[in-house]
Amino acid sequence: MNLSRRTLLASAAATPLLTGTGLALGAGEAVASPAKLRGALDYGLAKLKAVAPGITSFPEITRFEKWTYVADGGWVGGFWPGTLWLAHLDSGDARFRALAEAANERLAPRRLDPRDHDLGFLFSPSWVTAHRLTGGTRWRDGAIEAAATLLQRWNPAGRFLRAWGRLGTPDNAGRVIIDTMMNLDLLAFATEQTGDRRFLDIAIAHARTTQAHFLRADGSTPHVFDFDPDTGAAVGPNTVQGYSPTSCWSRGQSWGIYGFTTMYRRTGLREFRDTARKMADYALSVLTPDNVPVWDYRSPLGAHDVKDSSAGAILACGLLDLAKATGSDRYRDRALQILDGLVGTCLTTASARAEAVLARGTRNRPAEDGVEVSLPYGDYYLFEAILRVLKPAQIAKAIGL
Ligand code: GLY
Repeated sequence: MNLSRRTLLASAAATPLLTGTGLALGAGEAVASPAKLRGALDYGLAKLKAVAPGITSFPEITRFEKWTYVADGGWVGGFWPGTLWLAHLDSGDARFRALAEAANERLAPRRLDPRDHDLGFLFSPSWVTAHRLTGGTRWRDGAIEAAATLLQRWNPAGRFLRAWGRLGTPDNAGRVIIDTMMNLDLLAFATEQTGDRRFLDIAIAHARTTQAHFLRADGSTPHVFDFDPDTGAAVGPNTVQGYSPTSCWSRGQSWGIYGFTTMYRRTGLREFRDTARKMADYALSVLTPDNVPVWDYRSPLGAHDVKDSSAGAILACGLLDLAKATGSDRYRDRALQILDGLVGTCLTTASARAEAVLARGTRNRPAEDGVEVSLPYGDYYLFEAILRVLKPAQIAKAIGL
């Protein structure tokens, strides 16, 4: 047979590869081996050991590979202490714990500040994890205060937690975003600790509102859904960080998959598991063969558009949890493929000046704010995902699995 160069390349690409696990898989289906994940985490720990002692604020985004900061924590302030807690968990190094406690402390004023919905992002990876790992009651009590602050944003007419805008003003008063699914676990924690059902009941109601209005038939979601803030009547889908109201911002989809799976775990309500599954099946059906999400799954540039590695790290965590929730190994295999893609193509290893671990993140593409950057939530969820694979009992203690 006379094989052209093109035919040879195509058949080589389809030839099964032997991965570190010894599994035979097709090209693009390699799963991250434990050794590869261990190597990536060691790289992250070494980076953190070098960079963290010089950091006294909250990393927000990199500019030319160096962290820039947001002094009051912005919405990201939980991820820096969270990463340090996970570094301590993995290494046992007391220096990481001291840095994590100091970073936790800097977040304290935010627990009483109802300026936005981000209290779960701020206090779950930081104060809740600190309590779960150390038993410190100060962290528990502060996290419960933060949950009570979040309840101030409850809109009973629309049965949702308002994402943005100062309370008492019309600014974004009827705006719900998919990201809020990640803030609900703080409410579950408050009910777990206090026995007061109000927190979890509001979390369930918000998740049901999200489920009813965001989910499209194919399992994709918009970033935003607007309601009339006075009557609670549905207005329609919208976007801020996605391509359009009818597109699917990949990080938002990942927040939803992770958040609905968590809500299933906290409540046992199968509707949340089914929603997470539908959303995951959509994301997996449109993931490119490199297993790193494009910033919006419906970008007109398709596979050629820029990536968001943070969407991949969050998705890997959600899928690992969903695999346990559903008993389906397929979600775990896909999570390991995503981790293989992240570790193989997105680490900052090629640059000595980089201060973060994961490159190729996108913060806000429509605003042209933060493309090909590192993001503190990219690093945090990469650590979390790797620990979910390598040290499941320890990470379960840290985040309450
Ligand atoms: N929660 C905001 C974001 O994911 O960019």
